[in-house]
Amino acid sequence: MGKVPPAFSESARRRVFGRRLGRPLHGQRQDAIENLLPVLTLREEDLKQYGSLVPSVLFKNDKDCVLEIGFGNGEHLKAMMEARPDRTYIGAEPFINGMSAFLKSIKDMNHDNIRVWMDDAVMLCRSIKSESLSAIYILNPDPWPKKKHHKRRIVRAETLIEYHRILKPGGDFIMATDVDDLAEWMVTETMNHGGFEWQAKNAKDWQTMPEGWHITTRYAAKGEKAGRRQSYLLFKKSSLLT
Ligand SMILES: C[S@@+](CC[C@H](N)C(=O)[O-])C[C@H]1O[C@@H](n2cnc3c(N)ncnc32)[C@H](O)[C@@H]1O
Repeated sequence: MGKVPPAFSESARRRVFGRRLGRPLHGQRQDAIENLLPVLTLREEDLKQYGSLVPSVLFKNDKDCVLEIGFGNGEHLKAMMEARPDRTYIGAEPFINGMSAFLKSIKDMNHDNIRVWMDDAVMLCRSIKSESLSAIYILNPDPWPKKKHHKRRIVRAETLIEYHRILKPGGDFIMATDVDDLAEWMVTETMNHGGFEWQAKNAKDWQTMPEGWHITTRYAAKGEKAGRRQSYLLFKKSSLLT
């Protein structure tokens, strides 16, 4: 367990910008929030101490653990669970309508390998033990286009320190967006961190859906319909900081 940095103070712990509540929930979605969320959620006390949450203890096994940040309705998270049942998963999404859609969609699946957090992913990341995740996915994060809001972006210098810390050496850091400015920002910030290696060798590599990509999410599909191109930004944690 690491020393608690000043950034893990009460005020810095939890910051969610954007919507948490949308349309009222009914039927199976309401049912999923009332009955499945309490079973699958991480508890506040699991997140109290910096660097203390150990995925292998949480899941009681040493399988590769994958985190998806801001999973929306969870189409990609569910597709990963179906394609790779040999791994464990943690999903963070503060928007209750997204969480209810995801939980409803997995209600008949095996739940041994999934845990969720309906709150700030950065707070969750600060709680996770160093070098304990095999991959982190951040797909179509909110762009916060105004310059004064850039500090709200989920990929920024401060959060990259945590993503890098909790990934295993060689772990995958995978992002996607159809907002060109944001793609440029995410590549620049990630490269500036100095501890990640961009896997793209040429433009085609980030402009083309990688082999084995699990699914096109609702946001990505909407963007494609509107004529926007998705950028696939695949990085690996390198052992050396430059
Ligand atoms: C544009 S949506 C994309 C959803 C999904 N990844 C997709 O591709 O369809 C961005 C998501 O990030 C979530 N989000 C925003 N701030 C967050 C935070 N601090 N922690 C976790 N998720 C967050 C939002 O609630 C929203 O669902």
